[in-house]
Amino acid sequence: MVLAAALVGGPLSSDAPVPASLAGNPVRGQQIATSRSVGLCVLCHAVPGVPAAHAGTLGPDLAGVGARHTRAALRERVLYPERFNVQTVMPSPVRTDGLHRVAAAREGRPLLDAQQVEDLLSWLETLK
Ligand code: HEC
Repeated sequence: MVLAAALVGGPLSSDAPVPASLAGNPVRGQQIATSRSVGLCVLCHAVPGVPAAHAGTLGPDLAGVGARHTRAALRERVLYPERFNVQTVMPSPVRTDGLHRVAAAREGRPLLDAQQVEDLLSWLETLK
């Protein structure tokens, strides 16, 4: 279950205070989002600065998403996409259960750790 990831050192839930050590870095966040081996967000989302030919169209364009949502709302949408659409195709980067055909090396490990999530949110906030 998703909460288990939070309890074992995964990303904090939306109401938990963020320790200063986990302040997000938007530059690293952009690298995570646009990387095809780390965040994988561009597989489905158009992202400012990435040519359309290299971005997906399954999800909404992330341009302006920082103006549409607060940081808390962004956190909820990124970590728990199924809360907004029970049939969503967007994978939670912190979920480790209920997945199919997971590579052995990734078994039980979330896609992103708590620091990477904060970096990602700090970058999403800049997309106004
Ligand atoms: C497999 C496709 C897919 C991947 C990969 C994906 N998303 Fe999504 N995302 C979606 C879809 C589709 C939606 C629209 C809501 C829904 O139907 O789930 C969405 C919605 C969102 C939203 C809300 C946008 C809005 O305007 O309200 C945010 C923010 C978001 N995604 C961020 C991310 C980030 C950050 C990553 C990478 C960690 C990511 N997504 C990876 C498909 C994806």
